Amino acid sequence: MTQTTNPLVFLEALHQEIQQTEYGQQPAELYDPISYIMNLGGKRMRPLLTLMAAYLFGDDWRRALKPAVAVEVFHNFTLMHDDIMDQAPLRRGQPTVHEKWNHNIAILSGDVMLVNAYELLLDVETPKLKKVLSRFNRTAADVCEGQQLDMNFETRWDVTEDEYIEMIKLKTSVLLGFALELGGIIAGADDAASSLLREGGINIGLGFQLKDDLLDVYGDPAKFGKQVGGDIIANKKTFLLIEALQQSRGDLKAELIGWLSATEFDKQEKVQAVTAIYDQLGIRQLTEERINNYFTRGFANFGQVSADPARKALLMDFTEQLIGRES
Ligand code: IPE
Ligand code: IPE
Ligand code: MG
Ligand code: MG
Ligand code: MG
Repeated sequence: MTQTTNPLVFLEALHQEIQQTEYGQQPAELYDPISYIMNLGGKRMRPLLTLMAAYLFGDDWRRALKPAVAVEVFHNFTLMHDDIMDQAPLRRGQPTVHEKWNHNIAILSGDVMLVNAYELLLDVETPKLKKVLSRFNRTAADVCEGQQLDMNFETRWDVTEDEYIEMIKLKTSVLLGFALELGGIIAGADDAASSLLREGGINIGLGFQLKDDLLDVYGDPAKFGKQVGGDIIANKKTFLLIEALQQSRGDLKAELIGWLSATEFDKQEKVQAVTAIYDQLGIRQLTEERINNYFTRGFANFGQVSADPARKALLMDFTEQLIGRES
């Protein structure tokens, strides 16, 4: 068996496939934003997971290329709409689609990206297609449910950690789970292996979203590519805020609640003040511990997949880099 030990081989092939992908031509206002967001880059983590999962079960991982791109297109569609909902000015260091064009364009381009994702998934061979589509449909509906919960939580004060975990599982983790399961299914993995990959993806996804919440506060704006402090400005019930609400007492709690209730405030001032409260409570360390916990669980799931250890190591090494990511 030929071993591909260099993860760059996957990235290279994926980039080529993305470059070849056609989304549509006219009207340009509908399709230009798609090329724009797809060409802004990003980590390409989900499609790489699909390819690495396929590679666990054989050398023919290139069969998974178009479906892998489907996952990336779907992900970028969710970002386009998420940025409207979150009123985000920046994505991958550049203006978001609704800022560069307008809201209606971001809505409609996003819609057609979902169609593009289905089109790309049709590349899966017929005997496996129904299973793939059914898993994808469940995942896509979950993401919408998670996004709605994320919105609902903005105006609630009593969101529990369990509710938060369920919300991020839906909005973020299930897509990582699907990306991995998809690679497995395409490469002929048995049910046990595909569900371990899915489980592992969900655990990694929980750690990944916690890290995203952390970077939203403590990230380096030059590397993060998104507006640092956006979650604080919007009163997002992130892991950090839920912990701070639970752990703060007395004056500190009053100050935190003051900032959350303020209707008129200087954004920069609010971000600095809430961050200082997190600092005092040691929220950063606590979040880092939880991130490590979820990643460890994910690695344990991957460890149980019966596949060549060298190939699993490739997947694990790649995944491990996500713990320390800065963007
Ligand atoms: C951003 O995902 C949305 C979240 C689920 C946190 P990524 O951090 O994977 O974004 P890109 O694709 O690398 O830009
Ligand atoms: C994103 O959560 C989840 C989805 C896009 C489905 P966030 O709102 O935290 O993602 P970013 O930080 O904007 O990338
Ligand atoms: Mg959001
Ligand atoms: Mg967002
Ligand atoms: Mg975020």
